[in-house]
Amino acid sequence: MQVAIDGPAGSGKSTVCKIIASKYGFTYIDTGAMYRSIAYVAENFGYDDIEKKAAEVEFILEDNGKKISIRYNGETIDLTTKIRTPEISSKVAFIASNKEIRKILVAKQQSYAKGCDVIMEGRDITTVVLPEADIKVYLTASPEERAKRRYKEWENKSDAPKFEDVLKDIIKRDEMDTNRAESPLMQARDAIFIDTTGLTLEQVSDKIGELIQNKKNK
Ligand code: CDP
Repeated sequence: MQVAIDGPAGSGKSTVCKIIASKYGFTYIDTGAMYRSIAYVAENFGYDDIEKKAAEVEFILEDNGKKISIRYNGETIDLTTKIRTPEISSKVAFIASNKEIRKILVAKQQSYAKGCDVIMEGRDITTVVLPEADIKVYLTASPEERAKRRYKEWENKSDAPKFEDVLKDIIKRDEMDTNRAESPLMQARDAIFIDTTGLTLEQVSDKIGELIQNKKNK
């Protein structure tokens, strides 16, 4: 079974997907982490010929989506935490607007989904990567709620960004992701819309769990 989830930053996709993946034994693929990894390569190895660099990156997805490393330039680099910095967050939408990079990553994502039960999340999963998925969901929440959730992840960390900056980043990324020419973020016609404002993660994952159960019982 293929479950495809799209939505803007902070809509709760990653956490909900991890809950579903462990409950139903699905493979979890976080496609945002792949775009973030290419942003990391650009930041650390230069933006020149970034398409060629992206094609050379080999992804190592471990612990069912909880860990991501790449093999690049003869090195294995654990990016699990390195791609979650405000710097990478502010650069990734630019990388994600690159048509050639998207082509390379979409092909890899489609190959990961072959022949297994998968839950994949991102911005173009329901529309481009897995348009024939068994279940398609568009998750969202108000920008303030999404910024609050993101801000909470930084709580008690010494290098935490300011709330206003988190909100600004989310609004800017929403704008870039929804207005770009290449595979913009949008709700697929046949995707189920869930506004998670005011809902707990359990309530959201229960809703998606119900959709999976209904499909299984058919
Ligand atoms: O975790 P968060 O919601 O902040 O974002 P993410 O899922 O890690 O994705 C980071 C960025 O990658 C997004 O803002 C998009 O610009 C881009 N992205 C994309 O274009 N297509 C995808 N399938 C996944 C992510």
